[in-house]
Amino acid sequence: MLGMIVACDRNGAIGKDGDLPWRQSTDLQHFKNITMGSNLIMGRKTWDSLPGKLPGREHFVLTRSNSIDDVNLISFEDAKKMEGWIIGGGEIYSLFIEHVSILHRTIIDTRVENPDTFFPDITGLGFNLVEESDVSAGEKDQFDMVFQKWEKR
Ligand SMILES: NC(=O)c1ccc[n+]([C@@H]2O[C@H](COP(=O)([O-])OP(=O)(O)OC[C@H]3O[C@@H](n4cnc5c(N)ncnc54)[C@H](OP(=O)(O)O)[C@@H]3O)[C@@H](O)[C@H]2O)c1
Repeated sequence: MLGMIVACDRNGAIGKDGDLPWRQSTDLQHFKNITMGSNLIMGRKTWDSLPGKLPGREHFVLTRSNSIDDVNLISFEDAKKMEGWIIGGGEIYSLFIEHVSILHRTIIDTRVENPDTFFPDITGLGFNLVEESDVSAGEKDQFDMVFQKWEKR
């Protein structure tokens, strides 16, 4: 099973200046719970934005260069056949959105000013909302959030 996981704001924004536009500890924990023990598939810019490898998960990076140290490189064709989670960013979400069967989308209850990266519109792609829960901001969160699970049938 190939799935996708993202956090976006009310306008679908996911990034700004190469980083996440918010501090949402509860969503990072949600990301960890879902992805632990799995393969993570990401674009090179998202790889660059990480502090390093996330524990307990295998990392696969898409790039058109062939020189990134210490990480598995993977092609689009090979990644489509993998089991795991597409974790961004914007380019890679758009590339894979038609090829995933599950989508975990967190809606962060804000509208980021001047974002530069967006999640694609999923309207008409065959996703059905199967779970949704409202979560209030905790001490280490800037905003309330909504956890959604979508499935393609
Ligand atoms: N909110 C969230 O859930 C979330 C999650 C992840 C990331 N983000 C944010 O999203 C932003 C990064 O997203 P982005 O769209 O700029 O970049 P990205 O999707 O992370 O990476 C883009 C890179 O992927 C490689 N690539 C793209 N298509 C490819 C293909 N068909 N074959 C091989 N390689 C390919 C290229 O790498 P090369 O240039 O090396 O060739 C390209 O520059 C950051 O702000 C990050 O913090 C947010």
